[in-house]
Amino acid sequence: MAFAPIEPITMNPIIRELMAINGARLVYRPKILPQHLLKAQNWQYWAKIKKISQIKTPSGKSVFDGIQIIARPGDPIKKAVKYINNYASKIGIHFIDLNFCCPGYKVLPKRRGGDLLKDPESIIKVISEAIKYTNLPISIKIRKGFLNSDTPTKLCTLIRREFGENIAWIAVNRAPVKMENVDFSLIKKDFKPFEQAITAVEGKIPIIANGSIESYNNINIIKKNVNTNGFMIGRAALGNQTIFHNILDPSYSGFEANKLDNAQIISKFEELFKIISKYQNGPSGRFCSMGELKKILFYYIKHYFTSMNKQLPPGYGFTKWNNQKFSPDSLIKALFKIFPAISEKTWKSWINTIFTK
Ligand SMILES: Cc1cc2nc3c(=O)[nH]c(=O)nc-3n(C[C@H](O)[C@H](O)[C@H](O)COP(=O)(O)O)c2cc1C
Repeated sequence: MAFAPIEPITMNPIIRELMAINGARLVYRPKILPQHLLKAQNWQYWAKIKKISQIKTPSGKSVFDGIQIIARPGDPIKKAVKYINNYASKIGIHFIDLNFCCPGYKVLPKRRGGDLLKDPESIIKVISEAIKYTNLPISIKIRKGFLNSDTPTKLCTLIRREFGENIAWIAVNRAPVKMENVDFSLIKKDFKPFEQAITAVEGKIPIIANGSIESYNNINIIKKNVNTNGFMIGRAALGNQTIFHNILDPSYSGFEANKLDNAQIISKFEELFKIISKYQNGPSGRFCSMGELKKILFYYIKHYFTSMNKQLPPGYGFTKWNNQKFSPDSLIKALFKIFPAISEKTWKSWINTIFTK
């Protein structure tokens, strides 16, 4: 199981740790250009998961934390990769992922991310440059192609021929880069891109399925049709990290908010605040600010309501919530209002431990 890189939220090591203890063995920091990485050697990308060697998934597996580079031929890939390689243990990085999937409107015209899918040879050049200068595992993240009519076959075949087992895994998002006029309901059911990637790599490179996986059932459908080596979940895990646990062990409840009892709701938040308390001191303290906490809590609130098929209450929508200026007291009140299962006293004890330090 992997938790997908999501910019900017997965920069936050608290989020990555939260996913990991619930079952994501692979977690990633979001994409960064090699030139930006080299300019900012002192920033939040380097906030590592604390004591990651002691962190285990619910089935007792180790966890790996990576960084993702988005580059094109001509970028300072060698320098960036060497830098990561030299400081890997200090900055808590276990693998380097290469992004050939981003559909961003600012990224594509610069010929990076998903745009490179139009030219598999350029992808080979980027990988060749990266792989030369690091001992860390190199993984790849792609979409099925640039257009909906594309398949990952040619690219995956080339990657297998050029690098074979030297590539740690390929995560394949089943959606194309260009989504205009594409019927998304069909993409969500599609498993062909995974099948095509698996055939192309001939068992030499693990294939991880990604794209609109939202439940245990979605995974079951993929599993019935193809034999992927893993699953990557992004958006559906936000505020809902137990999705990983639930997939590992379907009897584990926690996915559907309306199935949660009060004790489970409390333990969900307890888990979060326990992790936050680990990050309060030192540079990672920036991830324990009111702004960051608000961002994390928003996803809990959103998931809680959507899983009950309910609209978010007034004032709790993304923009309103994130633009609101909270004091610890007003935050406690706002949280108590939507999660009355947790007493104000309990909210206070959690929130105050963060803001009175
Ligand atoms: C807001 C947002 C930011 C993202 N940032 C990145 C990123 O930095 N790197 C990347 O490879 N993918 C990024 N993605 C794509 C996700 O990693 C993932 O492939 C995609 O959301 C499909 O998986 P999901 O349906 O499980 O969310 C981003 C997606 C979203 C919604």
